[in-house]
Amino acid sequence: MSIPYQIKSLEQYHEVYKQSIENPEKFWGDIASNFRWKKPFDQVLDWNFAEPKIEWFKGGQLNITENCLDRWAETQSDTPALIWESNDVQEANRVLTYQELLTQVCQFAQVLKNKGIQKGDRICIYMPMVPELAIAILACARIGAIHSVVFGGFSAQSIADRINDASCKLVITADGGYRGNKEIPLKNVMDEALVQCDSVQKVIVLARNNMPISMLKGRDSWWHEEVHQVIEQGITFFEAVAMDAEDPLFILYTSGSTGKPKGVVHSSAGYMVYTNYTFINVFQYQAGDIHFCTADIGWITGHSYIVYGPLSAGATSLMFEGIPTWPDAGRFWDIVDKYKVNILYTAPTAIRSLMSFGTEILRDKDLSSLKVLGTVGEPINEEAWHWYHTNIGKEKCPIVDTWWQTETGGILISNLAGITPQIPSYATLPMPGIQPILVQENGQVIEGSDASLATLPSEIVSGNLAIKFPWPSMIRTTYGDHERCRTTYFSMYKNLYFTGDGCLRDTEGNYRITGRVDDVLNVSGHRIGTAELENAINSHTGVIESAIVGYPHEIKGQGIYAYIIYHGEGIDKKNAAQDIQATVTRLIGAIAKPDKIQFVSGLPKTRSGKIMRRILRKIAEGDTENLGDISTLLDPSVVEEIVQNVE
Ligand code: PRX
Repeated sequence: MSIPYQIKSLEQYHEVYKQSIENPEKFWGDIASNFRWKKPFDQVLDWNFAEPKIEWFKGGQLNITENCLDRWAETQSDTPALIWESNDVQEANRVLTYQELLTQVCQFAQVLKNKGIQKGDRICIYMPMVPELAIAILACARIGAIHSVVFGGFSAQSIADRINDASCKLVITADGGYRGNKEIPLKNVMDEALVQCDSVQKVIVLARNNMPISMLKGRDSWWHEEVHQVIEQGITFFEAVAMDAEDPLFILYTSGSTGKPKGVVHSSAGYMVYTNYTFINVFQYQAGDIHFCTADIGWITGHSYIVYGPLSAGATSLMFEGIPTWPDAGRFWDIVDKYKVNILYTAPTAIRSLMSFGTEILRDKDLSSLKVLGTVGEPINEEAWHWYHTNIGKEKCPIVDTWWQTETGGILISNLAGITPQIPSYATLPMPGIQPILVQENGQVIEGSDASLATLPSEIVSGNLAIKFPWPSMIRTTYGDHERCRTTYFSMYKNLYFTGDGCLRDTEGNYRITGRVDDVLNVSGHRIGTAELENAINSHTGVIESAIVGYPHEIKGQGIYAYIIYHGEGIDKKNAAQDIQATVTRLIGAIAKPDKIQFVSGLPKTRSGKIMRRILRKIAEGDTENLGDISTLLDPSVVEEIVQNVE
């Protein structure tokens, strides 16, 4: 059987999956032949997880923007590529056809060239959710520069760390941005960051909200003036630079269980092939569909399923600048109604938050255009799943629960909309080519948990989720520190990629992700490393020591609970807590602010000085009856004191 690009039945899924496991190179080679290559590849895959070395489509050359733009501008030039909805309901929307997007990307690529940017240079992008953000990303890709997008909610210090780690040469930002009724001073925050960044030579600034900013002579210039010059020269096209399949496409920083965030590096060809394949299959995309992914492009979901996945499929991708609750909690549904959205892809935290406003707000909204719903970023609880299914999907839209990570580049485990079965709270089955495996802490493979085994277990099994074979869009390295990539993902279990997630597998082979098993929190679908957050809190002069744990939070999924030992007796707790929140906001960003702070006189530690987080987690969850054996602690009395002082 030749492999169908879009899987159309459960039977076909099983057949394609089987083929993809039995002969991955043939499978991915066939899939990859559907793209525009400047030079065909000679070898589909070369790999080992020991180094790790992962090389897909070796010898091939291409440019992802030719696949996202040129080929569609040639065949469907008037199809909208991007539809943009402003934060402000009164402001006119913007629609960019494939031809218009191609032209604007080419013109901005020329601007970057004029600034001396070469293939391989790193560019930091810190922008609001406006079409120019997508244009900036694609223009980098057009000339082979490596983009590093930093989410607009991160602080100056976080930006500086990321710029310095990648030695970015140029920054693209905006004067400011809008989020609901707030204005975000992006350029001012960037200026504060740039004081620490010697590598940055030029800054291009988009005028978005006209807030007062300082423009530094010789370094800063306006986006519109730069583009105007290029237009004056009559430039409408820029030849896409030929990229080797394995040339890096972008860096995206993400938090882990230790130290500072790491720069996850994605490649050009593999990332393109996999995001396209998963976009078309998971969402069962049909030509003409309007796809609305509500993520911010500052996260991997926006990279893969607002920009590269949909555009490489010639789809219409809807970009929304604002937030779901402004001017009221009906905003998403107004957008679905206004643009007749067909595919809606959002996060459980957004669903839970909108659920809390009730269904009255849905009354006058026409959601009948919706065909497929999706969720991503964290486990979805059954209550939220059913609410989404009943009230938004009117029980006729399949919900795809897509499990993946910044490091995986695209969706690894998910049902295919309307094709493979959906089970509330289960991500269900692996995508073709993906070989999940469950392992115990000690590395022992859990029997019957290996997708390629013919036999399924007779009971539900659980373990740590790992993947035993490469896929095209997987992480290649952590920028500037390959050893960190190896130790973080490939050393825990020999010859396996370790995900950091715990997982169940049922007797039908369906996977249910249960959450992180490392010291990473998932707050509103955002990854927060506890070590990074503790470092930030500990840098406050008043703090002696701190320990962070997660606890169940009705809207955010997980909330952040901080136990803090503070200097001196009789502190003003309210003031101290505010100072600590301000410190976190300054060093990381408001997304990492603890939801609860408890001042304590000591932390439960073992005799070797290790903090017993398990106990702190139980207390934060309110489960003080089941703290387990505390007799081995250095000072068991601190536990009692902490329990007594819970507020
Ligand atoms: O714990 C898993 C959770 O989010 C983590 C990855 O976070 P990040 O790299 O920020 O990427 C988020 C968007 C892809 C995973 O290790 N996660 C993601 N999707 C799901 C999920 N947990 C349960 N179900 C999901 N569908």
